[in-house]
Amino acid sequence: LDNGLALTPQMGFNNWNATQCSADFNEGMVKGIADLFVSSGLKDAGYEYVNLDDCWAEQNRDANGDLVPNRTRFPNGIRAVADYVHSKGLKLGIYSSAGTLTCANNMPGALGHEEQDARTWASWGVDYLKYDNCNNQGVDAIQRYTKMGDALKATGRPILYSICEWGSNQPWLWGKDVGNSWRTTGDISDSYSSMLSIVHQNMVLSQYAGPGHWNDPDMLEVGNGGMTDTEYRSHFSLWSVMAAPLLIGTDLRKASATTMSILQNKEVIAVDQDKLGIQGAPISTDGGRDVFVKRLANGDRAVVLFNEADSPQRITTSASAIGLPDAAAYTVRDLWAHATHETAGAIAATVPAHGSVMYRVAADRSWAEYPPAVDLGIGLP
Ligand code: GLA
Repeated sequence: LDNGLALTPQMGFNNWNATQCSADFNEGMVKGIADLFVSSGLKDAGYEYVNLDDCWAEQNRDANGDLVPNRTRFPNGIRAVADYVHSKGLKLGIYSSAGTLTCANNMPGALGHEEQDARTWASWGVDYLKYDNCNNQGVDAIQRYTKMGDALKATGRPILYSICEWGSNQPWLWGKDVGNSWRTTGDISDSYSSMLSIVHQNMVLSQYAGPGHWNDPDMLEVGNGGMTDTEYRSHFSLWSVMAAPLLIGTDLRKASATTMSILQNKEVIAVDQDKLGIQGAPISTDGGRDVFVKRLANGDRAVVLFNEADSPQRITTSASAIGLPDAAAYTVRDLWAHATHETAGAIAATVPAHGSVMYRVAADRSWAEYPPAVDLGIGLP
């Protein structure tokens, strides 16, 4: 959507994967996450949106038909939470469904109340809407999502618009003019098999993504305990090479140092956030030995060597296969080891089961003495 937002994939937090509708989802949590964004360096790493998911509202609208914040979870209302989040230099996101009820079936959706709800959110200072697909009464998806998009626009407030339509009506074919991102799959769960199946569905859709309109393979599970750290590194590498929204889905107040270091890998984030806005795609997948490539704004290529298999495998590619011009030497930066080496053209690694090696490759020796300029947007020295 051409609303000036999400020129690179949105980054932030959403509570759903960590809490669902449990009592842990409340004002204290949201404020705690905003605090941690600042104190742990996540904000400096680019994370910006603190998003509320389902169950933030009371079951019934008030006498005027307005949404009412859940009195137990948000006793001071959403405006107070937005003010707090804004005071940290961050932005607040909210959730609804293009249906009569949201997906948890215990708060109203916005179908038929689009303008009213959009005005309410704008008046609270909301900066982001995740708009789900449950209880849609069989109304045409393009119609429902366009209606809300128009309502958000009519508020005059910049509100990032995330379509959560699970890929059921091929939103990649119509989402570009309607929203800033659209879900391409059903819900992720905290397992390697779920993550892998989502990769397979999302990786064939790169042609539809670009600045302002991204494929969304769902929120991150990094840190939630159902995968190994090796698998979580693959999850984060693959989301980044596919230019996916990076929405942290773990309770950061309980996150391990390893989880934090995965989520804060600035060299990997720089691939996700590259200004050119190309979604990387696999150039080979032979025997579960996947080679993903993403062209970057300064001409470098990001490469993920992902081993889908249950035992270690040697994965190989080359500078010419990933699209780099002929050069006497190439510089290969390992984005997880934070180490640099030179190659005449061969690019290879032995990759552990379910693991990934992620490289940034340049067609010269430019990084031999320098680390890459990860987030300045000014290219390499
Ligand atoms: C759907 C969405 C999830 C989450 C839940 C909330 O399943 O796809 O991401 O928002 O609803 O109920």
